[in-house]
Amino acid sequence: MDFLARLGLSIPLIQAPMAGTSTPALAAEVSNAGALGSLALGAIGPDEARRQIADLRARTDGPFNLNLFVHETPRPDPAGEQAWLDALAPLFREYGAQPPAALETIYDSFAGNTAMLEVVLEAKPAVVSFHFGLPDPETISALKAAGCLLLGSVTSLAEADLSLAAGIDVLVAQGWEAGGHRGMFDPDARDDRLGAFALTRLLARWGKLPVVAAGGIMDGADIRAALDLGAVAAQLGTAFIACPETSADTAYRGLLASDAASHTAMTRAISGRPARCLANRFTQFGERPDLPPVPAYPRTYHAGKALSAAAKAAGEPLYGAQWAGQGAPLARSIPAAQLVAQLAAELGLTA
Ligand SMILES: Cc1cc2nc3c(=O)[nH]c(=O)nc-3n(C[C@H](O)[C@H](O)[C@H](O)COP(=O)(O)O)c2cc1C
Repeated sequence: MDFLARLGLSIPLIQAPMAGTSTPALAAEVSNAGALGSLALGAIGPDEARRQIADLRARTDGPFNLNLFVHETPRPDPAGEQAWLDALAPLFREYGAQPPAALETIYDSFAGNTAMLEVVLEAKPAVVSFHFGLPDPETISALKAAGCLLLGSVTSLAEADLSLAAGIDVLVAQGWEAGGHRGMFDPDARDDRLGAFALTRLLARWGKLPVVAAGGIMDGADIRAALDLGAVAAQLGTAFIACPETSADTAYRGLLASDAASHTAMTRAISGRPARCLANRFTQFGERPDLPPVPAYPRTYHAGKALSAAAKAAGEPLYGAQWAGQGAPLARSIPAAQLVAQLAAELGLTA
């Protein structure tokens, strides 16, 4: 498959969907500049998804990607979750707040989610992408029948095999360097922590599906290296966070532009799944040896978001979910269209 021709792209670049940070304005600017813009629908419901898709469509006629989280639906564990809330309680008290009385499942998986499937089928986007797992065969068939190209995040060859068997068209090879949530299907499985380039090369040699490289890719030289390793494109998240079109708050932008960007950490403590974040007070807390087991994703995130909000309201930004990849010091604070044009120029292309 000629990936760029199929989608009508002029640069082998996907703006990563970034739940909580990417916006319709960002995706539209990227798509209008000749790359693929993405909307993150993983952490919102069908009504908000419809609103964001309409907003995006009003801003671009270009192709775009709708991204969904296909994690296992969590089971409540009252005793374990209470122990976790008790461990967090002193932090809440430091900011004059209380932890939630109990954890809740703050958003639904796309697995078996007919309401969200309806939204996506109505929209018929050029691309649909999955993170954390794969939908059932009926859902895959319905999306393919609607003409969508299906992308799936993988962190290992085993997940690539599962994706091939499920009918995924293109793999997003997410390396250990990547910002945000690690897309591994089972967060409790053994993790070989493959880097983006090792994984891209392994999957290119495996050769059964086209590969998009993701993780730590920040400039044209990085994209060129990924293409040289056999990728058809690169997916960049952290590179776009500082663009004015994202919803990143002032503190997040400030940290990205400071020495703090040089330090990232993989933590489960914020959401319940491993995710790479700028090293901050929350990631430090997650390293404490005396913590009870972290509850399931995204129930843990209920408390994580509440603590971030309480600390922020009291003037402490360092409990935020400030997701970022290892290339964070190279993030550029320029409009998205300009960033795409610069990346194209660095690659020797004109967008
Ligand atoms: C702030 C942020 C939010 C993210 N949210 C999502 C998401 O909603 N869905 C998804 O598939 N990937 C998400 N990711 C991961 C990206 O798809 C991608 O794997 C990662 O950004 C690549 O690494 P990089 O950040 O070093 O470029 C997110 C990444 C970041 C930085």
